[in-house]
Amino acid sequence: MDFFAAVTYLLVGTSSVSGLIIPRPAMEATNLPEQIHLSWSGNPTEMYVTWATPSPSTVTSVKFGLDAANLTSTATGTSTVFVDGAKAHKVRYIHRVTLVNLVPATRYYYSCGSDAGWATVYTFRSIQAGTEWSPRLLVYGDMGSVNARSLQEMTKEVQADRYDLVLHVGDFAYDMDNSNGDVGDDFLRALEPLAAIIPYVTVVGNHEQKYNFSHYRNRFTCPGNDEGMFYSINVGPLHLTVMSTEFYFFLRYGVTQIYNQYYWLAKDLTAAAENADNGWIFVAGHRPMYCSNPDMVDCNPRGNIDYAVIDSVWVQKTQPGRPVWYRGSKQTGRLLHSDRKSNARTEG
Ligand SMILES: *[C@@H]1O[C@H](CO)[C@@H](O)[C@H](O)[C@H]1NC(C)=O
Ligand SMILES: *[C@@H]1O[C@H](CO)[C@@H](O)[C@H](O)[C@H]1NC(C)=O
Repeated sequence: MDFFAAVTYLLVGTSSVSGLIIPRPAMEATNLPEQIHLSWSGNPTEMYVTWATPSPSTVTSVKFGLDAANLTSTATGTSTVFVDGAKAHKVRYIHRVTLVNLVPATRYYYSCGSDAGWATVYTFRSIQAGTEWSPRLLVYGDMGSVNARSLQEMTKEVQADRYDLVLHVGDFAYDMDNSNGDVGDDFLRALEPLAAIIPYVTVVGNHEQKYNFSHYRNRFTCPGNDEGMFYSINVGPLHLTVMSTEFYFFLRYGVTQIYNQYYWLAKDLTAAAENADNGWIFVAGHRPMYCSNPDMVDCNPRGNIDYAVIDSVWVQKTQPGRPVWYRGSKQTGRLLHSDRKSNARTEG
């Protein structure tokens, strides 16, 4: 798909591919934690912290607590070696820690540690428990490392505590594997002021396809056993199902994962539809389910097999409602709403 392939089923805000050039900090001389970002397991008493170091470190831990000046708890995690697929085989060390036993809806402070020292203290608010609240999600896709024009504004909004969770629906950095992965490092460094203070929940896009999506799988942390390709979380009354629309387009990586995802989706959506606590069920994928324009590059029926599962589960379980599909409009930055039957398109 082309560079400007824009697409999420639920995309708010404007297209974010243009603007600010992000300088690369000269951090590689040290082994301090960098590219720090949060993400979430779906459990309000937990938070994932992920970061990278250029060299191995003997320590992978996070100090955290309720007082920025007194981080009283320590959690330890694991470190993995991530080797880029290009000839130079550049190596990075990815560190992951799960903070547990958090009090929901509470402000915490934390610092990531390696043997080279401790990172800046960041803060986040743990996710609220239960379903009697309205989660505020910042949803977008297609954000590059160069020209991330909306990043500064979004960072300000997140710093002002206007959101509970970010959902980045595919296409990161353009592309994370470029220049032996340096573009991915630059992107995640630039993202840190935002992604280190709010769970940064991710969906895979076509621009992550290199080396069997290994940059996406290695750099982000998601619940489940499928390295972030498909999984689901409940946030308040919202059941959020994340899927890969890319399995259909990169068959060179195999077809088994198409079946795995298909059966998983059927189970996940059936259970979600039966759970009365789920006021809303969102399915997030990078490509649109149905086309609201004649563009066969971005809207391609090849992905429809999983959409058929979603459609049928929905119709069986939630009569008389039909699923409603949303996709972002690159032209207007507004939300498009379409119904498969009529393929009608309305803006809202
Ligand atoms: C940090 O917190 C611990 C446990 O609550 C307390 O015992 C200690 O006095 C605190 N230290 C400072 C410097 O506030
Ligand atoms: C790509 O990754 C998936 C998931 O780990 C795996 O099942 C598949 O065999 C891989 N494909 C190739 C060609 O390595």
